[in-house]
Amino acid sequence: MKTIKSVQNLENKKIIVRVDFNVPVGDDGVVSDEEDWRIKASLPVIRYLLEKKAKIILMSHLGRPEISQKSIKLKVHKVRSQEYSLKPVANRLEKLLNKEVKFVDDCVGDEAKGAVGKMRAGEIILLENLRFYKEEENNNIEFAKKLSELADIYINNAFSVSHREHASVIAITKFLPSYAGLLLEKEVGVLSVAINNPEEPATVIVGGAKVETKLPMIKYLVNKFDNILVGGVVANKMLDSVLAEKHISNTPHLLRELPLSRGEYFQEMDDQNLKIKLPIDFVRENNKRLDIGVETAKLYSKIITDSKTVIWNGPMGLFEEDDFSSGTKEIAKAVARTKGYTIIGGGDTISAVDKFEDIEKIDCVCTGGGAMLEFLAGKKLPGIETLE
Ligand code: 3PG
Repeated sequence: MKTIKSVQNLENKKIIVRVDFNVPVGDDGVVSDEEDWRIKASLPVIRYLLEKKAKIILMSHLGRPEISQKSIKLKVHKVRSQEYSLKPVANRLEKLLNKEVKFVDDCVGDEAKGAVGKMRAGEIILLENLRFYKEEENNNIEFAKKLSELADIYINNAFSVSHREHASVIAITKFLPSYAGLLLEKEVGVLSVAINNPEEPATVIVGGAKVETKLPMIKYLVNKFDNILVGGVVANKMLDSVLAEKHISNTPHLLRELPLSRGEYFQEMDDQNLKIKLPIDFVRENNKRLDIGVETAKLYSKIITDSKTVIWNGPMGLFEEDDFSSGTKEIAKAVARTKGYTIIGGGDTISAVDKFEDIEKIDCVCTGGGAMLEFLAGKKLPGIETLE
């Protein structure tokens, strides 16, 4: 992967940087300092380009603005809603950099061209939400060409959208010399070492919902990692399959392939050969398992603190509610305490660690949720392949 550090002279060059500034914006139209971690993660590449006296053009998506069927029929390709505007992000970035960030109300067209035309070296602009154009998500070549015409060089600094075949990630690389930014380089480097050559014992903790996105990762890592600790909805689904042994033929193919203990799963928890650990107790409400129990948290914490590599994606339960937060809290504490190399990813996991621990104790906070899961499932991400 070619990285921006390999380019000698960036002075006065117009550099368009795909960042991921997809952050929650409050009802007051402000990005709070608890929610700005994705903006902070891109500060090193922005500072690097400032040092090199480049002209910095930042582009991002925010959320998933709906494009109505009506507007598609009418060939109105633009949807705009204040709710999805990146203006509040420009304000937050200005504060973080203590430097003016000019916000441009569009990402292509005359307004964007005009703003770029007036730029001087060392100036920064942030373009409006790329997803206000449906062409972005369609990887439309004409749209990518328009974006590319704003700049001399393209940087992908957004690992977290590199699993998307979108115009600002893929098609744009056809038109400009393209490089990985510092953040993309770091995240790919850390995750590659973690899956190909992890220091052992290596442990992955999987929780949260979206089970179908997590099973491929479990399947891929089961042969590479020593322990897979499962919680959240993922654990619930697995347990339901295990407990309904008689109906195992109806469970998804993948679950049948995993080396799970069938039947008396809880008695086999201590069996060190069993890589996938399912919870042995729960905090329940209305017979629903809403958090891992005290004993499970203890067992998992011991495995985590004994590990040399730990990857965590997905909380152990409904941690937003106090009654069901203690499992996730214990795991966050164990991950922060371990001397092993720690990587966390996914919005909920990051919020949980931030809530219960000092996030600075984590070695790598991965900005990608979906992208991280695909990478850890051994898939090649198109946004990375195109830079290779
Ligand atoms: C994320 O939040 O994981 C990234 O910003 C990608 O967003 P998306 O899932 O809407 O493409």
